[in-house]
Amino acid sequence: MKVFSNNAVSLDGRIATVAYDHVEPGSRVDRAYMSVLRARADAVLVGGRTFRNWPLPLVPDPEDIQWLKEAGFPDTEVPDLEGRSWWNVVVSRGQKLPTEGRIFQDHRVRPLFFSGTAIEMPAEVLPMPEDGLTGVIAELQRRGVQNLLIEGGGDLLFQLVEAELVDEINVTICPRLIGGKGAPSLIDGVGFGAGKMRNLSIDALIRFGDELYGRYRVERAG
Ligand SMILES: NC(=O)c1ccc[n+]([C@@H]2O[C@H](COP(=O)([O-])OP(=O)(O)OC[C@H]3O[C@@H](n4cnc5c(N)ncnc54)[C@H](OP(=O)(O)O)[C@@H]3O)[C@@H](O)[C@H]2O)c1
Repeated sequence: MKVFSNNAVSLDGRIATVAYDHVEPGSRVDRAYMSVLRARADAVLVGGRTFRNWPLPLVPDPEDIQWLKEAGFPDTEVPDLEGRSWWNVVVSRGQKLPTEGRIFQDHRVRPLFFSGTAIEMPAEVLPMPEDGLTGVIAELQRRGVQNLLIEGGGDLLFQLVEAELVDEINVTICPRLIGGKGAPSLIDGVGFGAGKMRNLSIDALIRFGDELYGRYRVERAG
């Protein structure tokens, strides 16, 4: 299975404000490009906090992709979207999650929750596997997922990178500054100590307008 992530970050690496509000650091182009990457996935995974801020379907919008093509964006090839559905997967340790929202009504979405405690949701809920996120990915693989897109946040992405479960990181560097000590960033968690920083290599870099769209390959630790 290929596991790849996508986030929009401010120049200072933040993905939201210090209050963890829902913000969109990226432009209309960045938001449309999210549809391209979703179209290349068959499941989209987020953490509970991201889901609480945005309990909406994580599926590609064909109109966005068409708009992006017409805008001349250089990376818009996607597989056929006709008749497809997407697993929208949320992991939670048990904080309260929204039980209403379009994610539960969109026929293209197959919602799936993994929770550390028993929770009632209007969708399938599985207990968090004993081996944590590794087990989540194994379960998705069993369900036929071949391309898994991680859409954050930094808490979740850190753990996945630390566990060497991420192959590729897509990031839009947006011409904004957010700042704020403790504001969520692309990768949070406890962080990598000196000598344990993860190395990346760049696969693609697109400049479009004032934004930079980078695709990085995650190298194995050590
Ligand atoms: N700019 C962007 O591209 C972008 C993208 C995504 C999110 N965001 C924003 O960035 C902020 C992200 O905050 P964040 O980093 O805290 O979000 P997050 O990683 O999406 O969510 C963290 C939550 O995920 C659950 N979780 C994480 N690891 C788990 C594990 N091993 N087992 C079970 N559950 C686990 C927990 O959920 P519970 O709390 O439910 O227990 C945890 O509190 C939000 O403000 C969001 O709106 C921005």
